[in-house]
Amino acid sequence: MTALTLSTAAAPGLRADAIVIGVAKGAEGPVVAPGAEAVDKAYDGRLAGVLETLGASGAEGEVTKLPAPSGFKAPVVVAVGLGAEPEKDAGFDAEALRRAAGVAARALTGSKKAAFALPLAEAADAGAVGEGVLLGAYSFDAYKSTGKDAKAKNGKAPLAEAALLGGKPRDKAYKAAIERAAAVSEELNRARDLINTPPNDLNPEAFAAVAQAAAKEHGIKVQVLDEKALTKGGYGGILGVGAGSAAGPRLVKLSYTSSKATKSLAFVGKGITYDSGGISLKPAGHNETMKCDMAGAAAVFAAVVAAARLGLEVNVTGWLALAENMPSGSATRPGDVLRMYSGKTVEVLNTDAEGRLVLADALWAASQEKPDAIIDVATLTGAMMLALGNRTYGIMANDDAFRAAVHEASEEVGEPAWPMPLPEHLRKGMDSATADIANMGERMGGGLVAGLFLREFVGEGIAWAHLDIAGPAFNEGGPFGYTPKGGTGTAVRTLVRIAELASSGDLG
Ligand code: BES
Ligand code: MN
Ligand code: ZN
Repeated sequence: MTALTLSTAAAPGLRADAIVIGVAKGAEGPVVAPGAEAVDKAYDGRLAGVLETLGASGAEGEVTKLPAPSGFKAPVVVAVGLGAEPEKDAGFDAEALRRAAGVAARALTGSKKAAFALPLAEAADAGAVGEGVLLGAYSFDAYKSTGKDAKAKNGKAPLAEAALLGGKPRDKAYKAAIERAAAVSEELNRARDLINTPPNDLNPEAFAAVAQAAAKEHGIKVQVLDEKALTKGGYGGILGVGAGSAAGPRLVKLSYTSSKATKSLAFVGKGITYDSGGISLKPAGHNETMKCDMAGAAAVFAAVVAAARLGLEVNVTGWLALAENMPSGSATRPGDVLRMYSGKTVEVLNTDAEGRLVLADALWAASQEKPDAIIDVATLTGAMMLALGNRTYGIMANDDAFRAAVHEASEEVGEPAWPMPLPEHLRKGMDSATADIANMGERMGGGLVAGLFLREFVGEGIAWAHLDIAGPAFNEGGPFGYTPKGGTGTAVRTLVRIAELASSGDLG
């Protein structure tokens, strides 16, 4: 991954392939953002005018490359749009910095070293720029040929090194901000790798092995329940979903504990390594991206490892509910009844509503330890994509204050989300003639129906939030800001933020 450093060097003397500066959209045209004073001076204070002539406006996502002024060691200046200029005395918001840094990092693919002269008013800004760079520089080329077929490879390597100018390398807060950005971004990029890995290479067993290795590296306790253990324990939901696949299901439990913890959190992730729909098979056109159906488990995994790397003072348990949803002679049929880990029986009316079945078992398992709060993350319903589009995830909860806290955390870290209700009247649609509940209900409000189903498997009195990330988990469009094509890693930073709040005693 891109190496990140804080630098006190002056822009002109810096040896790099490019100097990145910020341009904001002012009332009368582009405005050179703070941090780029030395660059502007070298253009005789005419940089804003030059940029305007080149067609720059300062709009978000805009990139303008121009030759560096004479006397500069770096050959190129990359001016990146920051969006609207903030009010006087207000700084740029963290998300504007993250996005601009991400756009610039992407524009610099193939470069060895770039210096970022973006506005850093405080330590947190360095963290935001660092995160933007590391997340924006990400690319997944593990499956592109190298060697004599090198032309087939994406082309160029990600930006190798980024120096943040104006950062204070000796200041504790700046150092901590950069270290946090690196830990969170590295783990988030690892989640992206898992999501992007084709399902023939990432089945439940392989995912569990990755989790085991990472847990060992970071002093996290790990327990993997295989088919035999799941059968013995009575995990009918996970087993039922995995029954059709040649690759058996797993339940992975990752426990990060801190001796200073006063709170405990459980994160539960949907980990369907491939969702064909099962016997209720998805039609062509609906299954090509279903390797992403483990994005919730990937987010949970990354967040637990990040919490460990940051040494947070909170206990965090991650539950990865891993299965492959396939049709076969041994697959669960529509009409089958499963006895879940909680003891409840579920009539499976549609084998494509599998996520709620694996989550139900994992939620009940998590509840047995009586954590202070549970958050599950899942690419659960197409209905949530219809409701909120593909950049915003939905938050449902059994507790208004907790839902608000999760929403606030999501806004803070730049992961758009929106609160959704759990209307009681939708529960009766899941009444089953045969079992305690059916795994399907009314079509209208399908995302909320799924949330109501999950609620039944959360232990009494435990605050719980459900994040339906079906929309933003996988970006089928082009890259934007610091978000690449493919797996996005959404929800990782929300979970880390919640763990930080619990660590500092600021989570209700
Ligand atoms: N994994 C899908 C949901 C999904 C769809 C995620 C598109 C990402 C992109 C989930 O398992 C599913 O198939 N849900 C069904 C539920 C229905 C059968 C009640 C759906 O949303 O159609
Ligand atoms: Mn499905
Ligand atoms: Zn699914």
